[in-house]
Amino acid sequence: MTKKFNRTLVTCALPYANGPVHIGHLAGVYVPADIYVRYLRMRGEDVLYVCGSDEHGVPITIKAQKEGCTPQDIVDRYHKIIKDSFTGLGINFDIYSRTSSKTHHKNAADYFRKLYDEGKFIEKVSEQYYDEETKTFLADRYITGTCPRCGADGAYGDQCEKCGATLSPDELINPKSALSGGELVKKETKHWYLPLDQYEKWLSEWILDGHKEWRSNVYGQCKSWIDGGLQPRAVSRDLNWGVPVPVEGSDGKVLYVWFDAPIGYISNTQELLPQSWEKWWKSEDTKLVHFIGKDNIVFHCIVFPSMLKADGSYILPDNVPANEFLNLEGDKISTSRGWAVWLHEYLEQFPGQEDVLRYVLTANAPETKDNDFSWKDFQARNNSELVAILGNFVNRAVVLTHKYFEGKVPADLKPEAVDAETLAQIKPLREAMEKYLEGYKFREALKEAMNIARLGNKYLTDTEPWKVAKTDMDRTASILNVSLQICASLAIAFEPFLPFSAEKLRSILNVGIVAGADHRAGEEGAVSENIYTAAEGAALHTGVAYEGLSLSWEDLGNASPLPAGHQLNQATLLFGKIEDEVVDAQIARLEAIRAEREAAAKAAEAAVVTPQKEECTFDDFGKMDIRTATVLEAERVPKTDKLLKLTIDTGIDKRVIVSGIAEQYSPEEMVGKQICILANLAPRKIRGIESKGMILMARQNDGKMRFITPQETLCNGAEIG
Ligand code: MF3
Ligand code: ZN
Repeated sequence: MTKKFNRTLVTCALPYANGPVHIGHLAGVYVPADIYVRYLRMRGEDVLYVCGSDEHGVPITIKAQKEGCTPQDIVDRYHKIIKDSFTGLGINFDIYSRTSSKTHHKNAADYFRKLYDEGKFIEKVSEQYYDEETKTFLADRYITGTCPRCGADGAYGDQCEKCGATLSPDELINPKSALSGGELVKKETKHWYLPLDQYEKWLSEWILDGHKEWRSNVYGQCKSWIDGGLQPRAVSRDLNWGVPVPVEGSDGKVLYVWFDAPIGYISNTQELLPQSWEKWWKSEDTKLVHFIGKDNIVFHCIVFPSMLKADGSYILPDNVPANEFLNLEGDKISTSRGWAVWLHEYLEQFPGQEDVLRYVLTANAPETKDNDFSWKDFQARNNSELVAILGNFVNRAVVLTHKYFEGKVPADLKPEAVDAETLAQIKPLREAMEKYLEGYKFREALKEAMNIARLGNKYLTDTEPWKVAKTDMDRTASILNVSLQICASLAIAFEPFLPFSAEKLRSILNVGIVAGADHRAGEEGAVSENIYTAAEGAALHTGVAYEGLSLSWEDLGNASPLPAGHQLNQATLLFGKIEDEVVDAQIARLEAIRAEREAAAKAAEAAVVTPQKEECTFDDFGKMDIRTATVLEAERVPKTDKLLKLTIDTGIDKRVIVSGIAEQYSPEEMVGKQICILANLAPRKIRGIESKGMILMARQNDGKMRFITPQETLCNGAEIG
């Protein structure tokens, strides 16, 4: 029995609004989803394309605290950056809303409340870490201590960043509050749990028996979760940022971010389509597809479906084509280390080259295993594939047509067998593309599209119209006719992958495209601030009405979508060569980050402390006169690298001290600094200058030195001891 769907709802993982979107996100989720949506729309399918920012969760509150602003400030900043950057890459969701919206807060609270009223949750009191000083329960991220695996300090309650171990706060040695630095106590707190164990049998039947066609990485993860036995999962947290738990007596509690965020897909649909949203979520003839990265699999295949099932009125995903991870130049992408290529920066640095990124990310999509993005590969794929194959073919065909036939599609005056044979090869390529696109194999689909361009190039090279034109204009007409028909197929085939270039190509060919309607206008009652404006809509590439000849998917591989006599526009280059300097600059930026990281690791290693010196008496110590003092003047001692001559105010007198700190501090930065000195050190002459006393320095094993300065400015001459 094959299921018949009448519409498709495509969701993309809601990005956390605590940082910009990078190439890893794009390759994993957004570019493949966009290809899929564009393709289905060209096939005449009714598609709703939903995304938005995920604006809750602990990391956002931590970032706000670090920056001394509110969580709302953080999410406002990144929501805008993310939203605009998606538009810049041609990713035009029907709605890109946010989980801090009113609609979502109400919707998520209602969702919880219904399940609560129906007794679908377990209420459980448990002991959680509590910070007495700040009077808050601490999320795992807010607890730090020593890693039980590698011994590193500063490991988090959920993970050690040094060795990558997944931890629970109980495993940390000497756990402390990251908020106050203080000791922790355990205190009882009540939370609500979704009893996933009760859904285990149903999940097993639905996924393990019913969805064997899911990608093996997705299916495999589900199987190992289900086989391992599911536990009840807390759906609330003690936190003051998020959707408040809508139950009396739950002050200071919010819905767990992974409970509210997927409900955001539903809320955003409601914002856009307040009248008809239910058709998209509750109708068995809607096909629901979640595009996500592999770290989201358990939430989209196990937790969210159980939530939908608990409610009982929703459909379930038909597929969850999760991707693996994309690395950058051989290393895991890391937001905190700056090891990433950010979309908004790319768009600024590579204007007009949006499709190059889309192309490279699709060609290297981590569909079955982790994959790598490198700038050299980016350059090579642009120069030797987009420029040399696709761009070159189109350019040759169009330029020759202008040269010999005044830019009009010539009639097929003198066909030969090779023409029909060449054109006949396009249909099978199209059919392969369809099979791959419908099976979420976007890399393979792109290869087939590229094969159409390869076919065209080979045809031109074999038939050599520029030579034939010297003797046989009729044959030249046929060759260019065939070449232009191939161009028309390319303008259709590349629309899902390279929408900007496909549009450029269509404008050269002077044709439009039937690319299907979207839902960006919303319907009456739609929440207007999250609906696209007319200007944003103008940037839209699908569904543009075109006066004159329009191509549709069905034309792809047909013998002659372009009639003889059809006037072309002037040729412009679809792609430009990317020079070495451009990618070298990108590589240099990354190398600097790598070098910095390696230096930091070395410094940490070098920071092993020296052993303790032999015992001394209180009297020994008492002999030393240590005091605060301020640097009045500083200059280099001529002909030395290390020495500074400092004139200082000791509170007792003004005197000169020569100090070996010139490699660490410049004279300018020393002036005005309050320091500590050993005042009664016997004077000695250094390079002919009488030095009276010594500046106290802390010295690390790797040679790094810092002078010691009181926590706040004191009078000069204050005794230390
Ligand atoms: N913000 C999550 C992430 O980036 C994804 C949330 S998807 C949703 O990993 F379904 F919860 F919305
Ligand atoms: Zn560790």
